[in-house]
Amino acid sequence: MGEIDPAFIQSIEHRPKLTVTDPGEIPVIDLSALHSGAVDLLVADIGKACEEWGFFKVINHGVPLEVVRRIEAAMKEFFDQSIDEKRKVKRDEAKPMGYHDSEHTKNVRDWKEVLDIAVEDPLVISASPDPQDQELTKYYNQWPEYPPEFRKILKEYAGEIEKLAFKLLELISLSLGLAGDRLIEFFQGQTSFIRLNHYPPCPWPELALGVGRHKDAGALTVLFQDGVGGLEVKRKADGEWVGVKPIPNAYIINVGDIIQVWSNDKYESVEHRVVANSEKERFSIPFFLFPAHHVNVKPLEELTNEENPPKFKEYNWGKFMATRNRSDFKKQAVENIQIHHFRVSEQ
Ligand code: OGA
Ligand code: NI
Repeated sequence: MGEIDPAFIQSIEHRPKLTVTDPGEIPVIDLSALHSGAVDLLVADIGKACEEWGFFKVINHGVPLEVVRRIEAAMKEFFDQSIDEKRKVKRDEAKPMGYHDSEHTKNVRDWKEVLDIAVEDPLVISASPDPQDQELTKYYNQWPEYPPEFRKILKEYAGEIEKLAFKLLELISLSLGLAGDRLIEFFQGQTSFIRLNHYPPCPWPELALGVGRHKDAGALTVLFQDGVGGLEVKRKADGEWVGVKPIPNAYIINVGDIIQVWSNDKYESVEHRVVANSEKERFSIPFFLFPAHHVNVKPLEELTNEENPPKFKEYNWGKFMATRNRSDFKKQAVENIQIHHFRVSEQ
């Protein structure tokens, strides 16, 4: 099996424990309460899950099973192709949507390959990280030729997952004491995208990770995972990494950095990672709900006051994303841009 490419090796303190010891698991929320009238209870449960975990699972979410089965089958067919076929839709600095097999998280290479597809095609975003530069650019999707129905299947999935994401955004708004539609305006011209993740079996699961520890930068992530498992969440209560056990057809929801900023730290964006598996390949499909490029992200006025002053300075989403994208293509000497760079220093 040869030697591991050192680019994949995590430093010792970030390597995974390969035994699962703790049963403390993220909450499961049943969205059928939306139709049974018990919405207040549902909103309270969601608020509690966001505060205590930053992560929860949803069941009875309304995404039709056959739509999920179709995207699962299509993504398997795509990733099953030769590397040369997949690289026909390879992403680069000029075309940031597409196939990528050497992503780095915190400067260590992830044991995975991905295909990114924006939900708005083209996606409109700042051309450069320079705050003075007002120029915009468009990211066009790169559609694989195979499987032939790929585009249709992906679009069908995107429509369904978007509905679920906006429903959750509404429930989260309510749980913060805001109107249900308070946050929707930020998503006119959204920069959201769907990532198809393929984690091949990894002969060195004690050294490498499927995805290194990170927080999601957007507002919300709505993730479908297959039955293999491997996602781990850093539990807020004690800082332990706990596994997120797959429940068939459930979605995993997590609060991203933007909701942390909007809520002025009430709901924190929590670190997570994916442990590699030596035997089985794994597939997952996150939908990253991202606002429009022109949105300036800052704590919401309704959620701050004299006793609870804003903990973050405003930042522009388009510039934030442009900075991230630029650094995505090579190993960096410095840390990626993060929301803590905008934190107001405490006196
Ligand atoms: C991500 C992520 C988790 C998973 O892509 O940001 O955290 O289970 N993925 O694939
Ligand atoms: Ni993530």
